[in-house]
Amino acid sequence: MHVLHEAKQDAWKILKQAFGKGYTPSIDEIEQPPDPKMGDLAFPCFSLAKGLKRNPVEIADEIAAKIAPKGLIGKIESKGPYVNFFFDQKTFGKKLFDDIFEKGDSYGGSDIGEEKRIMVEYASLNTHKDPHIGHLRTIFLGQLLVHLFKKVGYEVIAATYIGDLGTHVSRCLWGLKKFYANIEPPKKDQNKFLGEVYVRAVQALEHEPLAKEEIDAISRDIEAKRGDNFFWWKKTREWSLREIKTIFKELNLPIDAWYFESGVTSISKKTIAHLLKKGIAKKSDGAIIIDLYEEGLGVNLLVKSDGTLLYNARDLGLAFKKQGDYHPDRSLYVVDSRQNLALQQLFVTLKRMGFEEKLEHISYEFITLKDGAMSARKGNVIRYQDFRDQMEQIAREQTLGRHPDWKTKKIEETAKVIASSAMRFSILHQDPGRKITFDMKEALSFEGCTGPYLLYTIARISSILRKASSLEKKKKNVIFSSAVEHELLVFLSFYPDILFTTAQDIHLSRISQYLFDLSKKFSSFYQTVPILQESDENKRISRLTLIQATAQVLENGLKLLGIRTLEEM
Ligand code: ARG
Repeated sequence: MHVLHEAKQDAWKILKQAFGKGYTPSIDEIEQPPDPKMGDLAFPCFSLAKGLKRNPVEIADEIAAKIAPKGLIGKIESKGPYVNFFFDQKTFGKKLFDDIFEKGDSYGGSDIGEEKRIMVEYASLNTHKDPHIGHLRTIFLGQLLVHLFKKVGYEVIAATYIGDLGTHVSRCLWGLKKFYANIEPPKKDQNKFLGEVYVRAVQALEHEPLAKEEIDAISRDIEAKRGDNFFWWKKTREWSLREIKTIFKELNLPIDAWYFESGVTSISKKTIAHLLKKGIAKKSDGAIIIDLYEEGLGVNLLVKSDGTLLYNARDLGLAFKKQGDYHPDRSLYVVDSRQNLALQQLFVTLKRMGFEEKLEHISYEFITLKDGAMSARKGNVIRYQDFRDQMEQIAREQTLGRHPDWKTKKIEETAKVIASSAMRFSILHQDPGRKITFDMKEALSFEGCTGPYLLYTIARISSILRKASSLEKKKKNVIFSSAVEHELLVFLSFYPDILFTTAQDIHLSRISQYLFDLSKKFSSFYQTVPILQESDENKRISRLTLIQATAQVLENGLKLLGIRTLEEM
């Protein structure tokens, strides 16, 4: 049990004793007051008063007069209709620090997942197309989910499903044949080249009356694995996959299972045959469909009349493949909101088939850049690599401005970490259901709710710790006299609950919000009380203990977001 819960239990025990047999309050009635000055925990007397038809203020006074502090509770007061509990700083602080320093990296974790198996499908990029900034959302959200679920005791399978088939692929190959035959792009730019081919193909399509027929023929050849079209598909697919793997490595993405649209054809066909047999799917004008009008989801089109398997059909096969390979209890799909309907149709269809896994769509909205920042080429999107380069360039200039004496390598590494923290934090701090208008300068600022601001907090703590005596750093103490210290201390104890709650409701931005609030609490502490300049040794040591614990919690949280930290910046 973590320390905050233990303190809550202590408050609850005290209350239960006060009430005796007459009334048993629930532990959930004990709240964390929004304003810490009101106490660390509070018991509101409204519902009790209502039941007794009495004044809640009087009841709060009566209860407070009857009970005495115990365990982790150091003081009890009534204020208006509330009974307020204050932690005994010494015992609470000691317990908390022991917990944080003993657990270190794993502080905050729990075992609520009970080793249940959860699959997170994310970063499902497409071949023959450029990865763009919008994809950063599935990448960062998915990665956070993987990290978080592991932290709270799930067995997690990180999966990705690469789109290496479909209209976009056939269009790209069509454009390649038409406009770029015999052009072999330089190795490092092969995928960028395909991205350009794709854009050119899409622009040319309208003026080519035979294009549609030719493109369909390419799709059929790929599916039948025959001829030149299949040869070029295989070759160009490799170009894209190499790039996708490079990006995954650069972003440190854990992937346990790689799935491909091209790899689910036979299982999808079997699934459809089964659906037809069961009468769940039916033939309609040569196509195969599932009627989902009853669920308000229209028609789920699986196979076109020319026999081509559609995206939704492949997703059915994929679901069975995932299940056969890993038997997850829960399965998450981190996929953009344009696919809301497709995934709802998928889930309902699977349910009709008696599929037991719990399926969830983590849907997210687009990202655009703030006007004028980087104009997208016509018909194309902002490539991830161009965006990243631009972010790193700004961070590099800023770092060089602060540290003209630093070696190039150090500038380079620092700029990369800063840029990455800025991208990740700005994206993860937004509710996935809201569109993001990304502002590069704002995201890279050292002030405000940004990744660099959090990194800077840690760098500031590191700088203080570098100057502190190593003997004093090793000692731990809990002698605090100010409200800012107390608030920071208690706030550190919330972290395990933040992870616990977020793993339950998947309200992912709660984590970055907590880390930002923690940084702000550190700042007001740092501005209010001296640390190294404090003349009282016990107080000085206590404050050093407190900032070490703060750095640990910040680091743990940032690691969940995929953000590395810096000693200096
Ligand atoms: N590759 C698809 C796209 O970019 C996303 C795949 C989502 N996953 C799935 N199982 N449908 O739109």
